[in-house]
Amino acid sequence: MLDLKDYGIIMWDAEKIASFRRTLLDWYDREKRDLPWRRTKNPYYIWVSEIMLQQTQVQTVIPYYERFLDWFPSVRDLAEAPEEKLLKAWEGLGYYSRVRNMQKAAQQIMDDFDGQFPDTYENIAKLKGIGPYTAGAISSIAFGLPEPAVDGNVMRVMARLFEVNYDIGDPKNRKIFQAIMEILIDPNRPGDFNQALMDLGTDIESAKNPRPDESPIRFFCAAYLNGTYDKYPIKLPKKKPKPMQIQAFVIRNMKGEFLLEKNIEGRLLGGFWSFPIVETDFIGQQLSLFSSNNFAPVKHTFSHQKWTIEMVEGNVKNGKPTSDKELRWVASQDFDQFPMATPQKKMIKTYEDSKKG
Ligand code: ADE
Repeated sequence: MLDLKDYGIIMWDAEKIASFRRTLLDWYDREKRDLPWRRTKNPYYIWVSEIMLQQTQVQTVIPYYERFLDWFPSVRDLAEAPEEKLLKAWEGLGYYSRVRNMQKAAQQIMDDFDGQFPDTYENIAKLKGIGPYTAGAISSIAFGLPEPAVDGNVMRVMARLFEVNYDIGDPKNRKIFQAIMEILIDPNRPGDFNQALMDLGTDIESAKNPRPDESPIRFFCAAYLNGTYDKYPIKLPKKKPKPMQIQAFVIRNMKGEFLLEKNIEGRLLGGFWSFPIVETDFIGQQLSLFSSNNFAPVKHTFSHQKWTIEMVEGNVKNGKPTSDKELRWVASQDFDQFPMATPQKKMIKTYEDSKKG
């Protein structure tokens, strides 16, 4: 086990730890948010909520969560879901590998665990797409196991509590925060303990607008007591997403249908449909057949790429386009039958707005 002293962290004595647990859980009992996944111990439901909540805010997640469980009420339903429906269920949430991995994990549960959700940390962590955070969250919330769920929120709160002088953005430092949490977590109420820190970390102890004077644990917090609150957590700047110039072709045939292409599986936005796009490294390039007069540039930022999309429009009289991607002519009223990611939705909106005048 890692020795916290090596990292300049002085752990509290047993009495202070007990007092901390009581303070945090009393606050949680008074203030906890009433959320749909807090009314269940079903590990499948909790898993779905935790995966959705990884990159998405609570208020956005709620309707997605309810619809997802309506469409796929059990692990078996998820394991057997057709891809298009799966992507539809996730449409707009982004980071689609999350839902693809969930389906693979559901298949693992059917094949390797007899359809029963595994009930130990070790087995939960074997499931595709489930890392230490999610394994900890499911273990503690659904099964009452004393496992920490260390995410950015928890690291931020711990960094302030103990004035941790290590970058919370560096994955190799996660083990420091894991070690702190293994000592602090209340073995009698581990799920509530973890969720109390999530609530605290997303609101009162948020990254951007914390209200330290309102924190129920401020008198335990070294940074608060020492006047160093603004210095913690230590977070060094990350690499910026790479700017990319994209051209998108809005091509219609004589029937007024639009040409859509399907993105290649295993690549960015694999399986999603969009207007055909190409990457260009120069701005303003136009093919003579096309015009781009009407459209404002469409912008979309992924974690690693920042797209500026120039839309160009044209019609074809006849003839079959060829491509290594799957292509279809699709009437606009049928767009909702194709999984489409956010950049494509933005393009459709830009296109439609431009036609309204
Ligand atoms: N964020 C991640 N998991 C959460 C949970 N269980 N409750 C509230 N916010 C969360």
